[in-house]
Amino acid sequence: METAGTAASTAPAVIVAIDGPSGTGKSSTSKAVAAQLGLSYLDTGAQYRAITWWMVHHGIDITDPSAIAAVAAKAEIVSGTDPAAPTITVDGVDVAGPIRTQEVTSKVSAVSAVPEVRTRITELQRSIAAGAERGIVVEGRDIGTTVLPDADLKIFLTASPEARAARRSGELKGADIHATREALIKRDAADSGRKTSPLAKAGDAVEVDTTDLTLQQVIECVVTLVEEKRAATEEKRAAK
Ligand code: DC
Repeated sequence: METAGTAASTAPAVIVAIDGPSGTGKSSTSKAVAAQLGLSYLDTGAQYRAITWWMVHHGIDITDPSAIAAVAAKAEIVSGTDPAAPTITVDGVDVAGPIRTQEVTSKVSAVSAVPEVRTRITELQRSIAAGAERGIVVEGRDIGTTVLPDADLKIFLTASPEARAARRSGELKGADIHATREALIKRDAADSGRKTSPLAKAGDAVEVDTTDLTLQQVIECVVTLVEEKRAATEEKRAAK
């Protein structure tokens, strides 16, 4: 991965966790912040989508948690962490397109609620974060609370349901905004209400409401928070 600037190449590795519901600008923000600061980038939602795609592809009954649990360790998921060109494969198959279909989107909450799936994917996420030499921006739902509770910086992005639905409809090229809003609220409720590692804000996370902010403003806000964190860490180190 290319390093963006000298500041990034000399700075200590930093781990940034960005959580929040869908439509808050998490992916666009996380990718841009990682690219700007020369960090790796991990989309954990893509991993849950990839395992869901695998389940569908192999005809697993996704209404049966025990059937999902029994095969949770079988799919080999590989994530490419370059923020300029993130990739995702399952058993060597490029699934970047198929994981964004309506079918996968409607089934991912059920699959990702199964504890065996979460254990498997969480291990994968931790090993990717540990291997990121210059640091990493990891986006998801439970990164600050469960996956990387010792992250250097935790951000929780929010936005009104209307703003989130409008953004998602735009991404889905003109999809019906009311249907999108309903589907989004339903998925958030499932992701927040599940027993294992639900969507939640960590106690020490900085909450950023993106409803009235442009993407560029959100990116600038997060970059500033990372730089402040890095400066504080450097100061502490120098004082020792
Ligand atoms: O970010 P996304 O919409 O692509 O995520 C898809 C689903 O994956 C989301 O509905 C819940 C699940 N997910 C999760 O359970 N934990 C994460 N850390 C990331 C995503």
